[in-house]
Amino acid sequence: MNANETLENTKKLLKKHNQSHLLTFWGQLGTAERRNLLAQIRQLDLAKIDGWVANFVKKSFSTEINADLVPAQSYSYAPDEPGQKRKYDKAVKLGKELILAGKVAALVVAGGQGTRLGFDGPKGDFPISPVKKKTLFQIFAENIKAVSERYQTSCPWYIMTSPLNYTETKKIFRVNNYYGLKKSDVFIFQQGTLPNFSFDGKILLADKANIASSPDGHGGCLKALCESGAVDDMKKRGIELLSYWQVDNPLVNIFDPLFIGLHVLDQAEMSSKALIKARPKEKVGNFCLADSKVAVIEYSDFPDKLAKRQNPDGSLLFQLGSIAIHIISVRFIKRLNAEGISLPLHRAVKKIPFIDEQGRFINPDEPNGIKLETFIFDALPLASKSIILQTLRSEEFAPTKNKTGVDSVKTTRQMMIARAADWLESAGVVIPRKADGSADCTIEIAPSFALTKEDIKAKLNQIPQIKPKDEIYLA
Ligand code: UD1
Repeated sequence: MNANETLENTKKLLKKHNQSHLLTFWGQLGTAERRNLLAQIRQLDLAKIDGWVANFVKKSFSTEINADLVPAQSYSYAPDEPGQKRKYDKAVKLGKELILAGKVAALVVAGGQGTRLGFDGPKGDFPISPVKKKTLFQIFAENIKAVSERYQTSCPWYIMTSPLNYTETKKIFRVNNYYGLKKSDVFIFQQGTLPNFSFDGKILLADKANIASSPDGHGGCLKALCESGAVDDMKKRGIELLSYWQVDNPLVNIFDPLFIGLHVLDQAEMSSKALIKARPKEKVGNFCLADSKVAVIEYSDFPDKLAKRQNPDGSLLFQLGSIAIHIISVRFIKRLNAEGISLPLHRAVKKIPFIDEQGRFINPDEPNGIKLETFIFDALPLASKSIILQTLRSEEFAPTKNKTGVDSVKTTRQMMIARAADWLESAGVVIPRKADGSADCTIEIAPSFALTKEDIKAKLNQIPQIKPKDEIYLA
């Protein structure tokens, strides 16, 4: 088929699916631009897009809330009776054996930019730690390094970026010499993208030769792990489990033997950590059971009346909040890919810069279009079995999402200091405190010094006396 026939066919197809405007500027494009635009158009499944336009773009489709949603059950943070204590001990032992055997790898989703943070760069490169201003990437790398040294095993790290920050993220790791990790143990890959739409269902053009698109949501990692060769790499290494978290949370306990062990003991395919929500409308996903399957309903989709419903003791009925920490079995990822992954789409009304039909570049002040995403937690109901383990906010959840206010740089640093102070105090170290009970000093504990609270006791002789306003770094 010659170029002309290809173009004619493409024109016919676009006309059939009401997207002919994508070739408005064809006459003004050079050969390479034409080839590039045709390649982008060929990537589009226009028939599928018709469905998206009807169901997600033109219609403010909100996640259908299952009428008989009930609260999900979870394992408590600490065992609450002897039988459970025995199971937790067995799980911890199994979890440690699996880490030691090199069957567990780390997976961080880092496709988001630091926009909300006002940080111009991959969020992972944001300097967050209270004393040394280590970046999020550095903190995770040091955690992984400390685990692999402790277990004398390699703990590969898979890092999902988006096309927007892939090159920059690769450069950051190169320049920082992979933060002391083996280069071969760091696998950086890209997630896919989805086209952006105007409210009337037209695919937007970013410029005369390029379709406007954006990262396909962290649900896109399931496909990207396969398409990027990461799953093949795991196969070669004998990796069976992935410890998943978001780049915005520096307190994550990446290799948690209890969580790993419970996931495997219960033969789960995808499991989650949860915390008790601080308030009904806290901006976290809500765990529930839908048709007896564990599911997460995002805070933006969760009906107020359900969010506010209480138990007789006044606690929230739907009290389990998702902190985007999961264990995912590699066989589950393979199964979903083999079956053809179709996670539900979520729409977001956004300001999307575009080229209008007169060829003018428009940078809107108001939301003018729709971005579509898939969410990783929508894979939970597809798992044959899924468990939830509660954790403590103070121990494991201090996301950096906003410049100021809740989940901000300031709150994250305060929580990092608070956890460090709590760890030291639990080992008998005296911590100077302010009248409000917060630590009256700045403390940072490197993963090389302690990965968990229990590690402090053995290092008491390395901890200086701490005076008010002191800045302490333990490594
Ligand atoms: C997210 C969860 C929410 C959870 C909360 C915990 C979603 C939709 N909601 O909310 O249920 O309770 O975190 O902190 O995720 N990302 C990518 N690629 C993408 C989109 C996002 O890698 O295409 C990564 C980002 O780097 C970011 C993370 O996913 O770290 C979260 O994304 P975001 O959309 O900001 O969700 P939240 O509102 O933070």
